Amino acid sequence: MSERLTLPVLPLREVVLFPGVSMPIGAGRPTTLRAVEAALKSDSRLIFAVAQRENVDSVTPSVLYTTGTLAKITQIQRGLGGVQLLLHGEQRGTALHYNDNGRYLEAVVREVEDLAPLSLDDPAFVALHREARDRAAELGEKSGLPEDVVRQVLEGVTDPGRLADLVAGYLEIKPAERQGLLETLSVEDRLRRVLVHVQRQIGVLNAQEHIKSQVQEELGERQREMFLREQMKAIRKELGEEDEATEAEQLRKRLEALDLPEAAKKEVARELERLERANRDSMEAQVIRTYLETVAELPWNKRAEESLDLKRAAEILEQDHYGLQDVKDQVLEFLAVRQLRQRSPQGVPRSKPDEEQTRGSILLFVGPPGVGKTSIAKSIARAMGRPYVRISLGGARDEADIRGHRRTYVGAMPGRIIQGMKQAGAKNPVFLLDEVDKLGVSFQGDPASALLEVLDPAQNDSFTDHYLGVPFDLSEVLFIATANFLQSIPGPLLDRLETVNFAGYTEREKLEIAKRYLVPRQVRENGLTPEQFSVTDAALSEIVSSYTREAGVRQLEREIGKLGRKVARRIAGGDVERVTVDAPDVDDLLGRPKVHPERKAGEDQVGVATGMYYTPVGGDIMFVEASVMRGKGELVLTGQLGDVMKESARAALTYAKSHADQLGIPEAAFSGTDIHIHVPAGAIPKDGPSAGVTMVTALVSLMTLRPVRARLAMTGEVTLSGRVLPVGGIKEKVTRPAWRSFRGGPPGVRR
Ligand SMILES: Nc1ncnc2c1ncn2[C@@H]1O[C@H](COP(=O)(O)OP(=O)(O)O)[C@@H](O)[C@H]1O
Ligand SMILES: [Mg+2]
Repeated sequence: MSERLTLPVLPLREVVLFPGVSMPIGAGRPTTLRAVEAALKSDSRLIFAVAQRENVDSVTPSVLYTTGTLAKITQIQRGLGGVQLLLHGEQRGTALHYNDNGRYLEAVVREVEDLAPLSLDDPAFVALHREARDRAAELGEKSGLPEDVVRQVLEGVTDPGRLADLVAGYLEIKPAERQGLLETLSVEDRLRRVLVHVQRQIGVLNAQEHIKSQVQEELGERQREMFLREQMKAIRKELGEEDEATEAEQLRKRLEALDLPEAAKKEVARELERLERANRDSMEAQVIRTYLETVAELPWNKRAEESLDLKRAAEILEQDHYGLQDVKDQVLEFLAVRQLRQRSPQGVPRSKPDEEQTRGSILLFVGPPGVGKTSIAKSIARAMGRPYVRISLGGARDEADIRGHRRTYVGAMPGRIIQGMKQAGAKNPVFLLDEVDKLGVSFQGDPASALLEVLDPAQNDSFTDHYLGVPFDLSEVLFIATANFLQSIPGPLLDRLETVNFAGYTEREKLEIAKRYLVPRQVRENGLTPEQFSVTDAALSEIVSSYTREAGVRQLEREIGKLGRKVARRIAGGDVERVTVDAPDVDDLLGRPKVHPERKAGEDQVGVATGMYYTPVGGDIMFVEASVMRGKGELVLTGQLGDVMKESARAALTYAKSHADQLGIPEAAFSGTDIHIHVPAGAIPKDGPSAGVTMVTALVSLMTLRPVRARLAMTGEVTLSGRVLPVGGIKEKVTRPAWRSFRGGPPGVRR
């Protein structure tokens, strides 16, 4: 049982003194002053500091709590009307009873000990202790106390109960809560309750900080906005511009007139509302307006009157293009089938073609540049009476190119498809997806699937562009795609497409195209008449063979354009009235030939035969050379030959050996010699079986010493019995190559 002491009472208003804590207290009430004097007279200078339940002036025992702190008065400063004390809390105490001795209040106090935990080493308690310490340090620093002070203070307290008391003294909590902590004798409980308060207070401080910075930010932005708006007003005034208050109204009317689909209607209504709420000149309003205008400009319900008369379509295709008979036929067939499919048995046009019927209904034009792919597509639009739009997919790198960016992006835009539709102005245009093979390697996964969705009749009636945010109907669009190479088109995409091959033109076809289309076009474009500017066939042939090297007619068109401009200048300058360009003039007008005529096969030689090959961009000739040298009867092959071509060479040798008699090859020819077959012509990798006949010819020529006719080119696979198999691609092989103008050369040679 601990000691009982009788001590003068120091009533505390709104504060609680904890053991181990020093605190300045002001005292002014006469009874209190007398109590302080009494304490100072004792040896211990102890006083019982106890909080009042209520903040009242006249203190009676009933307003005092019973739990308080035995405190030592360590300093005293007397002043006018009162004293300033520095108290140090020594020990918790309970007032057993209070007694008014007439001059001040006394208390009979019993000292109270902490209820320590059963084990100070209990991990849970250790953790609690440590956490309280760490959080207290955090709170101290957040409250603006210097870091080293906080550390020093906390390091000075090793006892967990004291730590709780120390921190409790600093907490910003209500006096009643503080008193509650004082009365909590269990160290563990006290520590835990203190920790809860500390956490809460840290939370409050954090929130405060956040609010403060937010307010500051907002103030900054608002000031900036105000400043800009003022500036804008000034500029408006300067320009004499009127405020169009009804702008949102106008947009609303325009959009209402469109009779949008439900989803779009909703989105538009929402954005209109936002627009009305937004500040007219704000960035936000700008973004909303751009969006709404985009929506307003899209052909949601507008259709071009389609007039598909197949006979007329055939005429138009014929009018616009020379040759290309296969292509034209295939296109017309396609149109005919399409027309049939879109009519129900009664002959009434269907409102919408169903999925089954439109599958595989997208044309893909494949061929080298300048062969008329784009231009045929344009003709188709003309023949069908539909608007024509073209987007180039060259360089399209990611999905956003096709599908747009979400509006949350600054400067977001619709993707190329929706932009194309806007340009078309009708929901049923002929839509050319140019260069689908140029989507590049990075155009995989998502972006490719975006394009797939565009082309899929089952899905494209509700194509969703990220920018637009609502579905748009593409089901009435006639898509046509073009590509130079089939190989670079992603497989799933290719599956949707119906391939139409453009092989490239022969020299004669080029001449006709130039005469009928390219020259007359240049006449028109240079403001000339056919009388003023004409080009002879000989001149055109010269241009074709010496100035161009291509499968199409693009370069040819450029060269003729150059001629046209030169002639126009001469006529405008008054030098001449009319010019007819003939072959000898070409040199003069276009400069020296750019392309040397085909490496002409020279003289007839032994062991050299001329073969042919083609790449997707055009055909060419190649030479197969055979020679013998001393050796052990081996076959040496050089010239970057592919496996198939190597097999051809072996087969050729076998054939020559086994038919030596028939072919007139002396028996000695094969003994003691190696045979070397070489296919020169640069570093073009060559493969395919069709060089077989050329190899046999070169070999037999070598063995029999009979020269091969140099002006004869050959192609075809040979069997071991000497049969030449049916050949394909003759037209492609005799079409001039364009690959020299291609970076990287041709992708490989195939039969
Ligand atoms: N068969 C043809 N008849 C008339 N002009 C043609 C023919 N083929 C191509 N052209 C013209 O050649 C130029 C290039 O054709 P273009 O359609 O751009 O080729 P591609 O799209 O295949 O690269 C265009 O001016 C086109 O009108
Ligand atoms: Mg093109």
